[in-house]
Amino acid sequence: MLRYLYNDKIIHEPALAADLTVLDYLREYKQLCGTKEGCASGDCGACTVVLAERVVSDTGVEELQYRTVNSCITFAGALQGKQLITVENLADQKTLHPSQQSMVDCHGSQCGFCTPGFVMSIFSAMKSHSEQEADREFIDEQLGGNLCRCTGYRPIVDAAVQAMGQATQADKFSRNAKATLAQLKELAATDSADQSCNGFFRPQTVTELCQLRADYPQAVVLSGGTDLALRVTQNLDSLDQIIMLGEIAELKFFDVESELIRIGAGLSLTEFRKRIADLCPDLEELLVRFGGTQVRNQATVGGNFANASPVGDLPPVLIALNTSVVLQSIRGQRSISAEEFFISYKNTSMQTDEFVREFSIPRSAFAATDKSQRVINRFYKISKRLDDDISAVCAAIHLVMEGETVVEVSTGFGGMAEIPKRALALEAVLVGRVLDNSCIEDSRQALKQDFAPIDDVRASAGYRMQVCENLLYRLASEIYSPEVATRVTAHDS
Ligand SMILES: Cc1cc2nc3c(=O)[nH]c(=O)nc-3n(C[C@H](O)[C@H](O)[C@H](O)COP(=O)(O)OP(=O)(O)OC[C@H]3O[C@@H](n4cnc5c(N)ncnc54)[C@H](O)[C@@H]3O)c2cc1C
Ligand code: FES
Ligand code: FES
Repeated sequence: MLRYLYNDKIIHEPALAADLTVLDYLREYKQLCGTKEGCASGDCGACTVVLAERVVSDTGVEELQYRTVNSCITFAGALQGKQLITVENLADQKTLHPSQQSMVDCHGSQCGFCTPGFVMSIFSAMKSHSEQEADREFIDEQLGGNLCRCTGYRPIVDAAVQAMGQATQADKFSRNAKATLAQLKELAATDSADQSCNGFFRPQTVTELCQLRADYPQAVVLSGGTDLALRVTQNLDSLDQIIMLGEIAELKFFDVESELIRIGAGLSLTEFRKRIADLCPDLEELLVRFGGTQVRNQATVGGNFANASPVGDLPPVLIALNTSVVLQSIRGQRSISAEEFFISYKNTSMQTDEFVREFSIPRSAFAATDKSQRVINRFYKISKRLDDDISAVCAAIHLVMEGETVVEVSTGFGGMAEIPKRALALEAVLVGRVLDNSCIEDSRQALKQDFAPIDDVRASAGYRMQVCENLLYRLASEIYSPEVATRVTAHDS
C-alpha cells in the first residue's frame, strides 16, 4: 500500500505498478494534467513537482524540507510518507501563489507549456531559501533544470526575483505547516509494517536491504532513479521488482574523520555539494554543473558511481582522489579501490547480491600533511552547455606539489574510454616534473598511449583527445599563472 499526502489529503494507493512514474500517475490515474510531459527524460523540467518531507534536527526541532523533482523520472513508490505538491495546489482559493502571480506580472509565459514547471521551481526556491540568498546566480541555478522554448528567460528570471522578494510572507503552506507535519508523522508511524507494494520494496535499514538483495536477485536497485527511470520512459522496459534505497538513513551520511571523509552511497548530490564545498571548492564547482537542480535533488553519489557510465562525472573524481568503495551484501562487506570497480562497458566488479554502501576519501586528498607540500585538485567538465549537460570529457587531476614540482599525481578520466579510467602513462610523465612546455609535450604523447577515445554524438575522438591535451596547458596556467582567467561562468556570455 502506498500512502502519501497530496496537498493536505492522505492518499492510499493499493495497486500501482512498481515502475509507474509520478507523471503518468498524476496525468493518467488522477487526471491532474497541470504537470506537463515534455521530454520524459529529466531534461526539460516541464514535469517538475515539489516533495515536502518532515525532518527533525539534532535538537528535536521538526520542519518541512521542500525540494523539486522531475516527476517523469520519479517512481510513484518514492512518494511514500511525503507530501506531493503540484501546480494545482499552489493557489490559495482564488488568489494565486506569489510564484504564479509573479509570472503573470512579469509576462513570464507565452504558450505556457513550461510554465507549471517553472512555477514549481520558483515555489520550491521560495520555500527553501531566504530572500537574502536569492542573487541572480542563485536564481539561474534554481531554474537551470527548466527549459522554455518561446518566452525567453529574462521575464522568467524577473518573475523569480519578484517572487523571492516575498519569500518571507506566510503562504498557506506555512500556515498549515503544523498540521502537515502532524500528518507526515502519522504516515511515518503507520509505515514500517508495510514496506513493499506490488514489487516496489522500501527497506528501512541496511540489514533489510541485504536480505532483499539476497531474496530477489533479479530486482533492480533504485537510488535517485535519474538514470534507472530512463529504462522505463525511453527504452520502454518493464521493471517488475524495484528495491529503493531512498529511505535508508544509514546510507545518507557525510562524516569527516581524522584520516578519512566517509560518504554514504545514498547521499543526494545536493547534500553532497553542500558538505564538500568548503573542503574542495573545485568539486563543488563541478557539482553545480551536474544536471539541473531537480536532478541533483534526486541523484545520489552511489547511483552516479554504480551506474558505471563512461561519461559520469563522479567516477573520474573518485578515482583521482584515491577513493575506496565499500560493497556490501548479506555475506558481509568488502572494500575495493574506485578504479577496480569498473571492468568493461557498464560491467562492474559488484556481485548480484551486492550494493554500493559507502565511499572513503583520504583527507590527504584535500590537504597536504607535509607543510612543504600543497595539494591541487582540478576537475574539468567539458560539455556543450554550462548547465544541465552530460560531459563529453571529464578530467580529474589530483597533484601534490613541492614548490613548482609535482611529487604525486593521480588522475581519472571520463569520456575517454569505455570505462572511467586513470591515465597511468600521463601520471608517470608528470611525477618529478615542473609543468613546463617540455613536460606538457611529453604528457600529450602519454595521453595518446593511455586512451583511444570513441566518436559519438557528444564529441569526436579527435576532439576528445585535443581537449584533454589542451586541459594540460590550462592546468599549468592555473598553477603557475593564477591571475590568468580560465573559467567561464553563466554571466560571461
Ligand atoms: C537530465 C539529466 C541530467 C544528467 N546530468 C548528469 C551529469 O551532469 N553528470 C552525470 O554524471 N550524470 C548525469 N546524469 C545521469 C544520472 O543523473 C546520474 O548518473 C545520477 O548520478 C544517477 O544517480 P541516481 O541516484 O539517480 O541513480 P539511479 O538512477 O537510481 O541508478 C543508476 C544505476 O545504478 C544502480 N545503483 C544505484 N545505486 C546503487 C547502489 N547504492 N548500489 C548498487 N547499485 C546502485 C541502479 O540499479 C542503476 O543501474 C543526468 C541524468 C539526467 C536525467
Ligand atoms: S518531462 Fe521533461 S523533465 Fe520531465
Ligand atoms: S512559454 Fe512556451 S515553452 Fe515556455
